[in-house]
Order: sequence, then structure tokens, then C-alpha cells
Amino acid sequence: MEKIKLFESKDKALQTIEDNSIHTLRIDGKAYCLGRIGTELFAIDDTCTHDGASLSQGEIRNGLVECPWHHYLFNLKTGEQLGGKCPNAKTFPITVDEEGVYLQLPLNPTD
Ligand code: FES
Repeated sequence: MEKIKLFESKDKALQTIEDNSIHTLRIDGKAYCLGRIGTELFAIDDTCTHDGASLSQGEIRNGLVECPWHHYLFNLKTGEQLGGKCPNAKTFPITVDEEGVYLQLPLNPTD
């Protein structure tokens, strides 16, 4: 796993990312959908598994990300696509320690 530092602290992350919001995060040319639910941050692949829309350009309600193109719903925590209309979204762990908040990415991007 590769560890990408997103914020200096959890407090800084919570000050920066509003509750129940999603954002586009670009790392090495790849996009991720970063969102906050309560005091927790989550990251899923930004590319919709249905037809490739950017999920972070959609809406979030009650922990569900709605794709902007065909309105399929994805659970931000688990990546599950509700209704099984297309594959689930890949999730990426976010970890916190005393030095910061990190996105954990596989060393091989296809993993
Ligand atoms: S591209 Fe996302 S639901 Fe169709």
C-alpha cells in the first residue's frame, strides 16, 4: 500500500471537508471521490462502474453517492451499488495517526 497524506490532522480534515459532502481528489492522474459522513472520511473510485461518469460530480444524501449521469446510487462507505445494476465501486481506506490523515492506495493501481 502507498500512503498519501491528505491532511495534517483529523481536525484539519473536518474543518476542510463539510459533513455530507463529496469532492474530487486527483493523485497521479487518477481521480478519487473523497467524502465525509459525520466525523469519518471515505474514498471510492471516482469513475462510475456503469458508464464512467465522475461520481464526485454527483450528489450525496444519507451516505449514498448519486451518479450524475443515470442516478445509480453507491454507498460511500462500502462502495456497494444499490440494486446491483453495475459493479460496486472500489473503496480505498483512509487512516489517521498523530501525524496526519492518509489515503491508502494499492501499489499496483489495477489491484
Ligand atoms: S454512468 Fe453512473 S449511473 Fe450511468
